[in-house]
Amino acid sequence: MATDNPAVLSTPYPNENVRMTSPFDFSGKNVFISGGTSGINLGIAHAFARAGAKLTVISRSPEKVTAAVEALKAHGGEVAGHSVDVREYAKVEEALKATHAKFGPIDVLVSGAAGNFPAPAVGISPNGFKSVVDIDLMGTFHVFRAAFPFIAKPGACLINISAPQAFLPMDFQMHVCAAKAGVDMITRVAALEWGPVGVRVNSVVPGPIDNTEGMRRLAPTAEAMALAIDTVPIKKLGTVDNVADACLWLASPMASYVSGVILPVDGGWSLGGAQSLGKGLTELLGGKKK
Ligand code: COA
Ligand code: NAP
Repeated sequence: MATDNPAVLSTPYPNENVRMTSPFDFSGKNVFISGGTSGINLGIAHAFARAGAKLTVISRSPEKVTAAVEALKAHGGEVAGHSVDVREYAKVEEALKATHAKFGPIDVLVSGAAGNFPAPAVGISPNGFKSVVDIDLMGTFHVFRAAFPFIAKPGACLINISAPQAFLPMDFQMHVCAAKAGVDMITRVAALEWGPVGVRVNSVVPGPIDNTEGMRRLAPTAEAMALAIDTVPIKKLGTVDNVADACLWLASPMASYVSGVILPVDGGWSLGGAQSLGKGLTELLGGKKK
């Protein structure tokens, strides 16, 4: 409807131009992904590479890094990779410095490195608990903290790959629940502190995603996988592309006013189904709860 309100008339419609072209064209954009060498995070890397971005991926295994870099180059863009354990701050910082030197300011940063194994709390040693917290939570802090000098300001979009365990207590997942809850708080605090310099920060929460290491660990038998599917309201597993699409949207101009959000991409799993899988794990993997 037409308006003669001067405040409205003086505000150009911000997405007018991007609606004319593709808002999902990331040509020349600089994208950095921790844990970007397999599964969901590699799927996210492929999506950005397909959309024209320059990619850097890091993870521990040199073999996985080499394979991911080769696969990502097939999209025709520039790709770099570094073998880095996100628990080592100095190594994380080195990789980010190298990325900045090679590709310039970072436009999109995805923190997705994580570890998980299903075990009852009394079956998790202090070192087992610490390992997951160190990778998921400390690793995310390391990546964010070390990246800040190198991200585009204004304009950068930071995305944490979280999990329903961040806000749903789940049997056999005390370590992951504790770690991912902290990850979502990093999202929220960074969104507050870095918003004023034009940086948006969000979490994406994948549901049970087909053909991933995370699901192979949480649902190691056909019976457990069937239970996982049954606990999703829309009765199917997600795909890595479902998660990647949400990341493309968050990083695009279409989401330019979205920050501090914890976004489930999970067919409704985080409404409660994830907890049912936890209960099922107790039956399937652990017998009676101790
Ligand atoms: N149940 C109980 N404890 C376990 C375990 C399991 N299934 N798997 C590992 N742990 C314990 C180990 O026993 C060890 O504790 P300890 O020293 O007291 O014996 C501790 O966890 C660390 O194990 P380690 O193998 O030395 O750690 P790592 O740093 O090499 O690997 C993990 C980290 C354990 C998270 C490993 O599973 C991993 O590398 N995961 C990455 C891939 C992944 O999890 N993908 C899914 C993401 S959702
Ligand atoms: P994955 O393939 O095992 O991905 C984990 C990645 O992190 C790998 O590239 C791994 O490579 C890297 N990594 C692990 N520890 C690291 C460390 N210490 N330092 C640097 N990199 C490290 O698992 P996935 O299932 O796809 O999970 C990806 C993300 O999605 C995780 O954040 C997970 O919590 C989240 N998620 C998954 C699901 C699911 O259904 N799969 C559901 C909810 C949330 P290296 O081994 O080479 O280090």
